[in-house]
Amino acid sequence: MTVEHLTFRVAPGGALSGRIRVPGDKSISHRSIMFGSLADGTTHISGFLEGEDSLNTLRAFRAMGVHIDGPHDGNITIEGAGIDGLKAPTGDIYLGNSGTSMRLMSGLLAGQDFDSTLSGDTSLSRRPMARVTKPLAEMGARIDTAANGTAPLRIHGGSRLKAIDYVLPMASAQVKSCVLLAGLYADGTTCVTEPAPTRDHTERMLRGFGYDVRREGDRICLDGGGRLTATDVDVPADISSAAFFLVGASIAEGSDLVVEHVGMNPTRTGVIDILRLMGADLTVMNEREVGGEPVADIRVRGARLKGIRIPEELVPLAIDEFPVLFVAAASAEGETVLTGAEELRVKESDRIQVMADGLQVLRIDAEPTPDGMIIRGGAMRGGRVHAREDHRIAMAFSMAALVADGEIVIDDCANVNTSFPNYVGLASGVGLRIKAES
Ligand code: S3P
Repeated sequence: MTVEHLTFRVAPGGALSGRIRVPGDKSISHRSIMFGSLADGTTHISGFLEGEDSLNTLRAFRAMGVHIDGPHDGNITIEGAGIDGLKAPTGDIYLGNSGTSMRLMSGLLAGQDFDSTLSGDTSLSRRPMARVTKPLAEMGARIDTAANGTAPLRIHGGSRLKAIDYVLPMASAQVKSCVLLAGLYADGTTCVTEPAPTRDHTERMLRGFGYDVRREGDRICLDGGGRLTATDVDVPADISSAAFFLVGASIAEGSDLVVEHVGMNPTRTGVIDILRLMGADLTVMNEREVGGEPVADIRVRGARLKGIRIPEELVPLAIDEFPVLFVAAASAEGETVLTGAEELRVKESDRIQVMADGLQVLRIDAEPTPDGMIIRGGAMRGGRVHAREDHRIAMAFSMAALVADGEIVIDDCANVNTSFPNYVGLASGVGLRIKAES
């Protein structure tokens, strides 16, 4: 369980150097548990993220009767229950802070013959769920929500799902995945059309488990009624966790850091493109393919960053990296403008408002807009900021200390454990002057 109150204290200055491997990819870890559980046969997973979010997915499938051994140092063995093998859980399924668990599982559970209830913490209980319950209702699912369309989700089992052809109203891999996973249980061919490319781990991993998923342009289709065949999943390091170090080493003069075994799926590498546009010195080395996902080591050296207008087509490809990209913008020369990123307002926190509030405390000219932010880079002061229980905000502000002129104190950091266990240990190992206080 996460600690209730955790504060980071980060002394100013320093540089990042050496080599680091950050924990496993969160998106891939969730899906490895889901598909391994539904497959026929035994799935071995290595490199699994032992963070609270993916552990909540693991506990959920155990609660539905799946035999899961581990994690032992990132290794997990799943005795797949088969596509129709899940059993009714005895109580509510609690998913903590994890939006991915809730949105993907709502699709899977809509196709079961038992009732289930998905609940979460205060942040997850505020996040919009109508974006998944609406298409699922079109497929014939029956799901009750709280009055404003939020969790808990009470999913009635035994509905006969029918395939739909769904045009996503927003670029969201979670909604795309939810509909496709319900489509496994639907009569006919389910298709989803995306307004812009989003992460495609669901499609890749379903294919890895032997399921036929077809993509034509921006439309992805699968037929219901098939089966998954167990396979092994090697989870690469999470580029979203690597991003803190890519930015930290870029802004801290004299840094020279290698981030190892990073997942380089092209639907996730927007952070690299954006940092390069800002003038970052990144070298991608040892490119290889591991279990259907591209992987590489990234060398990053300190550089003078400049402000840019962030191309909107890169927004979904870097959607989780904006908290730390705002820190890069704050220490760059000139103005950075982000637009087309209203989705940031409904993440684990309102990431536009929370980052703008914190940057202003650090005396940065950060102007929130409805769908983004305008940041004029400048001298960063020390100060006390709030992470608002959002893991990525906490880690982003910790990197700001590398260029601040005083200590940065960050409150509400316990949720760093949802995606990045041992962040403080790993970050201090490469030069960040960070300490945690509970
Ligand atoms: C995720 C998709 C993204 C991302 C989230 C993980 C996934 O959300 O922000 O952290 O694993 O599918 P959206 O698809 O809703 O933008």
